[in-house]
Amino acid sequence: MKLNEQRLELLRTYGQEHLIKFWDELNEKQQCNLQRQIEEIDFTLLQRLIDQRDRKVKSGTGVDRAKLAQSPTQLVRLPQNDAERVERENAKRAGLELLKTGKVGAILVAGGQGSRLGFDHPKGMYPIGPVSQRTLFQILSEQLLARSQQARVAIPYFVMTSEETHLPTTIFFREHDYFGLGEENVYFFQQASLPAIDGSSSAILLSEKGRISTSPDGHGGTLQALQKHGMFEVMKERGVEHLFYHQVDNPTAIVCDPVLLGLHEKYESDFTTKVVAKARPEEKMGVLVSIDCNTEVIEYSELSSEDAYRKDAAGNDVFWAGNTATHVFRRSFVERLLTEDFSLPFHIAHKKIAHVDSEGTLIEPESPNGNKFEQFIFDALPHTKVALVVEGDRDREFNPVKNAEGSDSPETSRAAMQRIASEWIQFAGGNVEDGVKVEISPLYALDDIDLKSRQIEGQSFSEDSILNM
Ligand code: UTP
Repeated sequence: MKLNEQRLELLRTYGQEHLIKFWDELNEKQQCNLQRQIEEIDFTLLQRLIDQRDRKVKSGTGVDRAKLAQSPTQLVRLPQNDAERVERENAKRAGLELLKTGKVGAILVAGGQGSRLGFDHPKGMYPIGPVSQRTLFQILSEQLLARSQQARVAIPYFVMTSEETHLPTTIFFREHDYFGLGEENVYFFQQASLPAIDGSSSAILLSEKGRISTSPDGHGGTLQALQKHGMFEVMKERGVEHLFYHQVDNPTAIVCDPVLLGLHEKYESDFTTKVVAKARPEEKMGVLVSIDCNTEVIEYSELSSEDAYRKDAAGNDVFWAGNTATHVFRRSFVERLLTEDFSLPFHIAHKKIAHVDSEGTLIEPESPNGNKFEQFIFDALPHTKVALVVEGDRDREFNPVKNAEGSDSPETSRAAMQRIASEWIQFAGGNVEDGVKVEISPLYALDDIDLKSRQIEGQSFSEDSILNM
């Protein structure tokens, strides 16, 4: 078979003819696949991104946003006194009421490549339960199910996948009977991918002789992907007006957190985001800040070590508010953005990308050799009329699985789950003996107060156990 003439012309125009260098060595199926990949490339967009990269290399990183930043101003911190504790309690009640109206949906972003973890399947399939080995998908889905039961309403789950994760994720949910959520309440939508580019030229990289190296377009791709796959229509039909957004890598995130939802509603916010205090100024974590009255995120790579330690006039750290990537959006805000023909900016990542060279040899680089382009969801923040930052309890709510070992690894996340379970049991009047692991299914208890109603007072756990329904 021959490559479609129009596409050939495009490859010539954009200097990408090397993509079909091995065409004659491919079988028909491989040729079809490569042709399809070529057809999917938005060459105009790609060229714009390459130009943007080259301009940046010439002129440096541009405006130093860190210098203009101050701590977030639209902020609700963890309660320090009775009045603030009452505000949280009221917010929690209001959030639960909002959930009961059926106006809340949940978005799970699960399209990432999880390259740091180095797990051979979508990250959501990682067995994280300290006793049960339940997967991240199961723990998060069970939380959503428990929340639905608490609110007595089915909360739809919008699960974003990518080219790589779509099939295994949908099969996994089906095989596990949608973790009890009901097939009719789980909507999968696939984000777009972009080709990877050689770091020192404009050449698109081939991962195999007949395959273009691509990567998902970042969690910011959620917005366009929701639109492309008709998810806003589904939301409208189901009466969903607010979207709780969370990542697949944090098993201790409070899914559809009533406090966050309640505050979001109270402040009439378009985009509410949960932060936690950074462990130390130089911790590699994006931070929420205020710049010219806008709420924005500054990535850790944008902060010099001097900036990271900057204090405000009152002597407090400016860059303390670590981004947990747990958000609530107003649906109408996202739809407004998209009808304005809006696109989030693309960020350029410099990564090690395996590829075949011009001789057809597979190269596994030892240092970054190529570029990937990604959009970040938090770049929507400056476009809000009202944005709100809410502080959460780091130990309780933020224990992600990012790396294979060390910080933010399965080991630290499991340890946190065990610690939380022991604390809840103690609060409920029970006891966990030293060295014993207890795992609490979200269906058994969603929090310490919930657990108290389970009558475990006086119980002592002397062997590994799972509290399950
Ligand atoms: P990370 O930024 O931690 O990336 O994603 P990652 O791909 O999971 O892991 P690394 O960087 O390759 O090691 C944070 C969250 O955003 C989702 C991920 O699935 C995770 O839930 N995500 C990220 C997407 O859904 N799509 C993307 O393109 C990128």
